[in-house]
Amino acid sequence: MKIALVGYGKMGHIIDEIATKRGHEIVARLSETPTAENLNNPDVVIEFSHPEAAFNNIKICLENKIPVICGTTGWLDQKPEIEKIALQNDTAFLYGSNFSLGVNLFFALNEKLANLMKDFPEYKVQLEEIHHTHKKDAPSGTAISLAEGIIKNDQRFDAWKLDETQNKELGIFAIRQDEVPGTHSVYYKSDVDEIEIKHTAFNRNGFAVGAVVAAEWIIGKTGNFTMNDVLFNK
Ligand SMILES: NC(=O)c1ccc[n+]([C@@H]2O[C@H](COP(=O)([O-])OP(=O)(O)OC[C@H]3O[C@@H](n4cnc5c(N)ncnc54)[C@H](O)[C@@H]3O)[C@@H](O)[C@H]2O)c1
Repeated sequence: MKIALVGYGKMGHIIDEIATKRGHEIVARLSETPTAENLNNPDVVIEFSHPEAAFNNIKICLENKIPVICGTTGWLDQKPEIEKIALQNDTAFLYGSNFSLGVNLFFALNEKLANLMKDFPEYKVQLEEIHHTHKKDAPSGTAISLAEGIIKNDQRFDAWKLDETQNKELGIFAIRQDEVPGTHSVYYKSDVDEIEIKHTAFNRNGFAVGAVVAAEWIIGKTGNFTMNDVLFNK
């Protein structure tokens, strides 16, 4: 597969390394606006750039009928327009807010477990996330997604909150510790035992591998997709 990298910062560099190891050819490494010429005829574009650049970058690639995998955050109000452009040009577009395969699998596992546990009120549910001390927000976006996944499947809850689970509010403990990249746990505790599921991120490589897997998957497809399609609707 010939890949053009649009945005060549921290993510672009890791994707370059991982895609090359998986046998793909990187035909462009751009830190500027793509053009039909500098893209160098790729099979797919992987876009991790800047919120203000993403819309224009993606539009240009799609108008050249090249499928695009995009991980850039902060431009989503313009996503419906991009999805229209993808369809008009008979090509494909995939946006992922978190490309980590592990986290996406963990989201699905969390929902399945919540659906199973909803009939067993003797188990009390609690979420926990641990991140490095530089992180400003709490709880993490990933913890909120996990909470939403449980709320969707278990009518005992209608909201999440920081701290301990109480009544219809699902609790999230947010712990800040050293340089931890991101650890998320969901606990179901009864008087006699406990079930725990846990995802531990080691570094940014998971995001990069996910983006390359999505690029491999999207070749030959038409339409607008998410990581859910890549992982669960093959
Ligand atoms: N979806 C995910 O899983 C995921 C994971 C990590 C990061 N991100 C997001 O991806 C984006 C990039 O992250 P990063 O850590 O690589 O950032 P970064 O700052 O290291 O790199 C961004 C690169 O984009 C380049 N750039 C700026 N304007 C451009 C333009 N017009 N065209 C092409 N390139 C341009 C910059 O020169 C820079 O090299 C951010 O929005 C970040 O939030 C998403």
